Amino acid sequence: MNHEAPRLLEQLHNTCTAIRLKTALAPRLGIVLGSGLGSFADSLAGRVSIPFGELPHMAPSRVVGHAGAFVLGTWQGVPVACMQGRIHLYEGHDETVVVHGVRTMAAMGVKTVLLTNAAGGVDASWAPGDLMVMRDHLNLTARTPLMGLNDDRVGPRFPDMTEAYARDLSDALLALGRAQGLPMREGVYAGLLGPSYETPAEVRMARILGAQAVGMSTVLETIALRHMGVRVVGLSCITNLAAGIGAGLLDHSEVEAVAKARRAELVQLVGAWIESTK
Ligand code: HPA
Repeated sequence: MNHEAPRLLEQLHNTCTAIRLKTALAPRLGIVLGSGLGSFADSLAGRVSIPFGELPHMAPSRVVGHAGAFVLGTWQGVPVACMQGRIHLYEGHDETVVVHGVRTMAAMGVKTVLLTNAAGGVDASWAPGDLMVMRDHLNLTARTPLMGLNDDRVGPRFPDMTEAYARDLSDALLALGRAQGLPMREGVYAGLLGPSYETPAEVRMARILGAQAVGMSTVLETIALRHMGVRVVGLSCITNLAAGIGAGLLDHSEVEAVAKARRAELVQLVGAWIESTK
């Protein structure tokens, strides 16, 4: 719990300083690469990779398929900061640790962040490999990174969440994906704590509440970024139909395999999106 908000700026300063010792790059965009999607960072020019564990106030990622590194470099001349993998609540970390990476991006001057994730589809007409632009979210983790004292220098006590995902940037991402012939969807992402996959009853609940996808990440990052006034875009790779929607059982290796099979298209889409923000 974030009972020590006055220390947050100091902590962000420490992490930024540790990154700046390795690279002078001033990123303009931030990108969080979820399960199986991390390879985008390998295509950055002049990249510098710093494992999370080497950065103050970050924790090493413990999830298979998540490299757990900050990678800074340029894409077609645009300086970007990527998180190759992320930290999840279910790994046992505090909310503040979970969002420290994206807060660091904001502290480095990034004004727009693309959050990607793997998610289960709640609509039976969707298929593994579909890509969903996040139009909104349901935070079903019952946690928030804003718990405790607020530091008004970082952001307001009661941040507005009306347009959690920037509409114009989301429209642009959707159009780019369609132009590339990708199976684009849009919808609401329900973020749950995990790490067990949902029960069919929980998936029905999420659907009744208005979700099109379920996952175990992203929502706390969005809250922290909106708190700092950063514009957010969300992209889910629908790696499977959620429990009880499709036939069969869920398995992390299948989630990874589907995300990896979409790798080339995702790299192309993310690249095109970066160029569209020029
Ligand atoms: N549920 C939760 N998280 C996920 C899923 C799912 O079905 N697929 C990929 N991440």
